[in-house]
Amino acid sequence: MQNFEQFLLDNLPQSQSIHPTYEAALQNMLKAGGKRFRPALLLGVVKAYNPLLTESAYHAAYAIELLHTYSLIHDDLPAMDDSPLRRGHPTLHMTYDEVTAILVGDALNTYSFEVLSNAPFSDEIKVKLMSELAHNGGLNGMVLGQAIDCYFENKPLKLEDIKILHTNKTAKLIAAALKMGAIIVGRDDEAEKLYDFGIKLGLLFQIQDDILDVTQSSDEAGKLTNNDEEKNSFVTILGLDEALREANLLAEELHKSMESFDESLQRELSPILTKYINRHKN
Ligand code: IPE
Ligand code: IPE
Ligand code: MG
Ligand code: MG
Ligand code: MG
Repeated sequence: MQNFEQFLLDNLPQSQSIHPTYEAALQNMLKAGGKRFRPALLLGVVKAYNPLLTESAYHAAYAIELLHTYSLIHDDLPAMDDSPLRRGHPTLHMTYDEVTAILVGDALNTYSFEVLSNAPFSDEIKVKLMSELAHNGGLNGMVLGQAIDCYFENKPLKLEDIKILHTNKTAKLIAAALKMGAIIVGRDDEAEKLYDFGIKLGLLFQIQDDILDVTQSSDEAGKLTNNDEEKNSFVTILGLDEALREANLLAEELHKSMESFDESLQRELSPILTKYINRHKN
């Protein structure tokens, strides 16, 4: 079976035109790598319930990675987090210019839905997948989270509002990855449970990201660190010790919830989660 990474490389966005650097810019951040965490979650659910659908599910895993990659490209723009480094490479606005970074983000966002529209699923499943991706990645999901994140720079929020911010910014797309896996295998009965688990997992993922912002060098992280001082990051608001405590509590809770999952699901998700659930402790 072809692996997901190869599928991604075989299906990079293409555009031949008179523009000398547009196609390279479209592909740059996708080729740069990253953890592919959201695809791994989606594919883990599919493998647990119907491994024969794994290759078909690559389309959906790729769609979510495209939307996520667009969110990173825009997140790094000078108007947002103003970061010169991403996935160990210069950001697009450094290599090219801001116009390119904005437009490549736009292109990857819409391409994600084009990829989904061409996926080898029934129209009904495709509409459900598109709806889930749009709902969690869009105006009442990731985009809302980013809007709150940027609006409230240097304006400290209460912990419950910080959780709303990070649920939208990060957790919803991670939860959507698990739910989209359940939709693909026709296990809509499991979808909500997986979604709720994904929200907690996503919150943990963002707390860890905030911890790593102060504990890792830019070289180690492959992106600019020590860049959250003005943000309502968990560390900025709670302090490092309390953020670590919160991360440990959530990690424990997630381990417990996992025990109620079907055995096959535990088998597929455990290696992915073990790798990431404890990453703030490294
Ligand atoms: C970074 O996401 C932004 C957050 C939501 C915390 P990832 O940590 O998944 O970034 P990549 O995909 O590995 O580059
Ligand atoms: C961004 O969160 C989350 C997105 C929706 C892209 P951060 O701003 O903390 O992500 P990094 O640390 O730059 O990867
Ligand atoms: Mg940001
Ligand atoms: Mg950022
Ligand atoms: Mg961060």
